[in-house]
Amino acid sequence: MLAGKKILLGVTGSIAAYKSLHLVRELTKAGACVNVVLTATAHEFVSPLTLKVFSGQPVLSSLFDPENDMAHLRLAEEADLVLIAPVSAHFIAKMAAGLADDLLSTLLLATKAPTLIAPAMDLGMWDHPAVRENISLLKKRGIQVIEPESGPLASGKEGVGRLACEQTITEAVMTLLFENHPPLSGEVVLITAGPTEEAIDPVRFISNRSSGKMGYALAEVASQWGADVTLISGPTQLSPPSGVERISVRSAAEMEKAFNLKLYASSIVIMTAAVSDYRPVSTAKQKIKKTGSVRTLDLEETPDILETRALGRDDQLVVGFAAETENLIENATKKLKNKRLDLIVANDVTLEGAGFDVETNIVHLIKRAGEATALPKMSKRLLAGKILEETLKIRTIPLPSLP
Ligand code: PMT
Repeated sequence: MLAGKKILLGVTGSIAAYKSLHLVRELTKAGACVNVVLTATAHEFVSPLTLKVFSGQPVLSSLFDPENDMAHLRLAEEADLVLIAPVSAHFIAKMAAGLADDLLSTLLLATKAPTLIAPAMDLGMWDHPAVRENISLLKKRGIQVIEPESGPLASGKEGVGRLACEQTITEAVMTLLFENHPPLSGEVVLITAGPTEEAIDPVRFISNRSSGKMGYALAEVASQWGADVTLISGPTQLSPPSGVERISVRSAAEMEKAFNLKLYASSIVIMTAAVSDYRPVSTAKQKIKKTGSVRTLDLEETPDILETRALGRDDQLVVGFAAETENLIENATKKLKNKRLDLIVANDVTLEGAGFDVETNIVHLIKRAGEATALPKMSKRLLAGKILEETLKIRTIPLPSLP
């Protein structure tokens, strides 16, 4: 997603400076070219050599480097985005005062690139009126602040002051970079989410434990990335993400009807919903009374919404999910083929931190060409970005024809 983007990463003197290594790794993995500039005090906490190896670029510190004449002007001009992480209370004060006594502070005055800062400091320092005033001044000047997180601090205290985690910082970088050129602009994305409910009688139904979190995360990220998003949702406790059209349904039949109405207009379709595979053959008009004996319920299969869908537009990409409890790759690959998908997201829902009603997921992404990529456990929001990224990549690669 960040291919071709130049990020200037400033690292200042803070115990959290070592985390800049993880950040460099994340940003370069996403395709960005990362130029690191260290302040003098940052050298006490992290080695320029390690950062050079991680970024694959020279690491600069001095305004007076004979080999990098006018580096402050070149770096300031070339950067698509400036990120300072971690930024110390001292450096925040320098920025607020507009000082320019080292390479990083000088290039901040020279750059026109959007700037993000991620503060890290001890609890009392973050609350100090001088820091609060400097932060609000920087915000007024258009600098975006990634708020520090709460947790154990280097001083042994607990509270707000920890550098935001690398996922949060990377997401903030992407959001800011894509503000003017969102990667999904022009795309019409149809997403299904949540469970379905198949009525037994007026008060009882068959359903499952889907919370809708995976589908809502996809809808939120797709909308933030510039897509026009429709979310067809089974019953959940979640509010629709802003800017997303939500169509609320209950049963598989209702979901199928809404899906078919929106299908043709959509350039990307993502089916995360846990559609009930069975429903009662008939729904009792009145609440079924106890009879004191064993009762059986006759069930029939619901329509398979993905499998029986009409052929879509030529440019339509279709992504399905597979919730499996055994033979993950084999079963998911079968669904990929039978349901004529471009990509399937396979989750083994028996794993802790994966699948139904949790904040994270652990998945394999399987493309039509067959290769499966295992992803580590991550938040459903971060995973949503990865799924959208992979989906877009497919469009640039000619697909093998379906058997
Ligand atoms: O909602 P959360 O709590 O965040 O949980 C996320 C999730 C576990 C629901 C999600 O990650 C997931 O796996 N969704 C798919 C669940 C499922 O029904 O999988 P399946 O293997 O039974 O179905 C395969 C695909 O066919 C799915 O894309 C499904 O939406 C679709 N399907 C299934 C049955 C049916 N009648 N019609 C369908 O279109």
